[in-house]
Amino acid sequence: MSTDGVDHGRRRLLIGATAGLGAAGIVGAAVPFVKSWNPSAKAKAAGAPVTADLSGLEPGQQMVVEWRGKPVWIVRRTPAALADLKKNDGDLRDPGSEESTQPDFAKNEYRSIKAEYLILVGICTHLGCSPLYRPEVAPADLGPTWRGGFFCPCHGSRYDLAGRVFQGVPAPLNLEVPPYKYVNDAVVIIGESA
Ligand code: FES
Repeated sequence: MSTDGVDHGRRRLLIGATAGLGAAGIVGAAVPFVKSWNPSAKAKAAGAPVTADLSGLEPGQQMVVEWRGKPVWIVRRTPAALADLKKNDGDLRDPGSEESTQPDFAKNEYRSIKAEYLILVGICTHLGCSPLYRPEVAPADLGPTWRGGFFCPCHGSRYDLAGRVFQGVPAPLNLEVPPYKYVNDAVVIIGESA
C-alpha cells in the first residue's frame, strides 16, 4: 500500500492498459491503408490479362473478348485484305500511326505482331461507340472505294483493317492496339506485352 494515498500498482496497470489501447488504435488505423495498397480480388480480376484461343478463327472472321470492361477484337485478316492495306495510305489521317496508341511492337504497317491477326480495342476514338466490323469490299452503303474495315454507326467514322482512321470523319485517331503477347501459335494473352 502506498503512503501518499495513491495506489501505484493500480495506476501502473491503468497506464499499461491505455498504452495498449493506443497501440491497438494505431494497428486499427493502419488496416485501411494496407487494404488500399492491395487491390481486391474483384479489382484484380477486372484488370487481369485475358487469354484467347485463336484456333477456331477462320480467315475473315472476327472474335471479341472482354478486357478491362472493354471489347477487344481479334480479326484474322485474309491475304487479300493485307495486300489492300497499303492502298488506303493516301486516304488515312495517320497512316504511320505516329499520333495513335499502340505498343511499340505494333507500330508497323499491319499494326500487329503477326500480320494475319489484328488485335484492337473496339472503341471508337471519337466518342467511344463500338464500331461495326465490315470486311466486305465495296458494299452499297459504304461505297465503291471501301476495302473492308470498321464503321462507327454513331457519327460515321471509318477505319481500315489495321484500325487506321480515314480522313474526313470525326474520329481523330486510329483505334488503340492493346498490349498482348503470344503464348504459342494459337493462344494469345491480352493485357501483357510481348
Ligand atoms: S463515336 Fe464513333 S464516330 Fe462518333
